Amino acid sequence: MASPFSTAQFDEIAPVYDESRGGTARAAGFAEQLAPLLDPARPVLDIGVGTGIVAAELTARGHRVVGIDLSPGMLARARARLGNRVAVGDAGRLPVRTASVTQAVSTWLLHAGPDRRAVFGEAARVLRPGGRYLVIPARGGRPTDDIGRIVNELEDQLDPEGTRQDGPETLAPVAAERGLVYEGTASERPTTFEVSPRDMARSLSSGGLFTGAWPVGAEDAPLLERACERLRALPDPEVPRVRTMADFVMIFTRTG
Ligand SMILES: C[S@@+](CC[C@H](N)C(=O)[O-])C[C@H]1O[C@@H](n2cnc3c(N)ncnc32)[C@H](O)[C@@H]1O
Repeated sequence: MASPFSTAQFDEIAPVYDESRGGTARAAGFAEQLAPLLDPARPVLDIGVGTGIVAAELTARGHRVVGIDLSPGMLARARARLGNRVAVGDAGRLPVRTASVTQAVSTWLLHAGPDRRAVFGEAARVLRPGGRYLVIPARGGRPTDDIGRIVNELEDQLDPEGTRQDGPETLAPVAAERGLVYEGTASERPTTFEVSPRDMARSLSSGGLFTGAWPVGAEDAPLLERACERLRALPDPEVPRVRTMADFVMIFTRTG
């Protein structure tokens, strides 16, 4: 099993987080997807704002964003971008008044280890009736190419309960329990990237962070090593595969 969430992992990767996660291009892409779903006249609460890279892109598009994050290391970077509009706080215990928010967003938060029931409960609490929580998942769609089949199998072995999955099938029931209705997806944007099996194996076996998303304990090292061996045994392991994924926004609405 993966270790429990700690901000230490994000504090540690904060200095390289932006550049190793698609940089401004990813953030601008997310902002383009979110912006048409947001009312520019109302503030946006970014839950799990991280380094503020997405929030900064929303700000550049005319939105007033305030952000919360649990990791002081990530937040120090967000503060450099957004000043005192960010604060340390737990998404599961938001330092925000009840029914005071019209729109909230989270990008790549719910796979990262927070208690989703608590996060949706808090989103439901702080949203006004009719308010929306927009979520861009990290693992909404998983590529099923030869690399993907191995990585997906590994992911399922490391996380048999699916607690790191953050697509609609997993999140809609949790949201419903907490009073948020899943309305569907919007702003789908296919993205392609290239990686060779050998590079994927290298990235999986370095640093102990499984696909950059969560820490893998020593007890899971044999599973990881087996997956790396299978990746290196694929035909033409040095040849990059063009991999396609789709980023999309999930819309959750606070009813009543
Ligand atoms: C993968 S990063 C995404 C950051 C940012 N939203 C982005 O798209 O670049 C996940 C962030 O969620 C934060 N996080 C995880 N659990 C949290 C919690 N319970 N409360 C607040 N932030 C949390 C982490 O500290 C980290 O900054």
